[in-house]
Amino acid sequence: MSVEESELLKKLDLTRLPRHVAVIMDGNGRWAQRRHLPRIAGHRFGTKTARTTIETCARLNIEALTLYAFSVENWRRPKAETDFLMQLLREYIRKEMPLIQRNNIRMRFLGRIEELPPGVQKDVRDATERTNTNTGMWLCIALNYGGRAEIVDALNAILSARQNGNAHANGHVANGHVANGNGAHPSNGNSQTAREASTPASQIASPNGHTSPLERITEEQLSAYLYTEGLPDPDLLIRTSGEMRVSNFLLWQIAYAEMFVTETLWPDFNRARLLEALIDFQKRERRYGGIHSASSESSNGNSHELNSPRAAGK
Ligand code: FPP
Repeated sequence: MSVEESELLKKLDLTRLPRHVAVIMDGNGRWAQRRHLPRIAGHRFGTKTARTTIETCARLNIEALTLYAFSVENWRRPKAETDFLMQLLREYIRKEMPLIQRNNIRMRFLGRIEELPPGVQKDVRDATERTNTNTGMWLCIALNYGGRAEIVDALNAILSARQNGNAHANGHVANGHVANGNGAHPSNGNSQTAREASTPASQIASPNGHTSPLERITEEQLSAYLYTEGLPDPDLLIRTSGEMRVSNFLLWQIAYAEMFVTETLWPDFNRARLLEALIDFQKRERRYGGIHSASSESSNGNSHELNSPRAAGK
């Protein structure tokens, strides 16, 4: 660890870390162009940054880390680049498996996985299965992911479950950890088994086990059908390369996330920059729509909860 990193680590309160960190890894192309390299060189270097980020978060005992690797919109890029990214991901999953296992990390993939090339689907399922008995940090890779698509998939899965009148027929995948975008009609038999096993009927059905198509959907029910089912919502959303956008990333889940946008391009976002983002997060006052703690202390005994990054499970 460098002197800079150990100085930053001293400033970090290890008892107030975010439970879930989500990252929009942006700026690979610009990083490469500034060096007169092809864009793909930026992506390749970006995997090194991903490795450092994953290892650091796992060692800090952060509960979940989500990396935005490929969006549903990224298919608009030249085929050579999308092919390269798919290949890089496959390579990455294989190469990093020892690090993942060493750090007791559980992998989950968020997105319309069933639309990916068959080889990628296979690697994704293998990685999920090989790590599903680990008990440490959740590493979620958003792959062929779109926030709107995720909400639409969740609603369609709920509609489908209601049409069948039986919650167990279409429960959301939770134990399989490969979030299947085609929620109502999983293309993979294993997903279906996981769905059946995982969702209590009470989450979507009335006590007699039947659901009414007119029954109102609650926030909890919708959350249970998202790819991130069972994970805390992100407390901290990091975006590199300075763009002030959320880019269709975890739209539902980032409702109360603190945003940290840095000009640093993803390949340059080293451990020191990550520690700075975590330190900055600890300076934020989180209010969840409540009021400032000083004003609330006299009137509201819950003021401390509102200030705690771990408060209210958010
Ligand atoms: C955005 O930069 C980056 C991506 C679309 C790909 C991110 C993928 C990796 C870092 C590969 C490894 C992934 C994992 C999970 C290990 P950009 O190309 O849009 O950059 P630009 O805005 O400068 O063009």
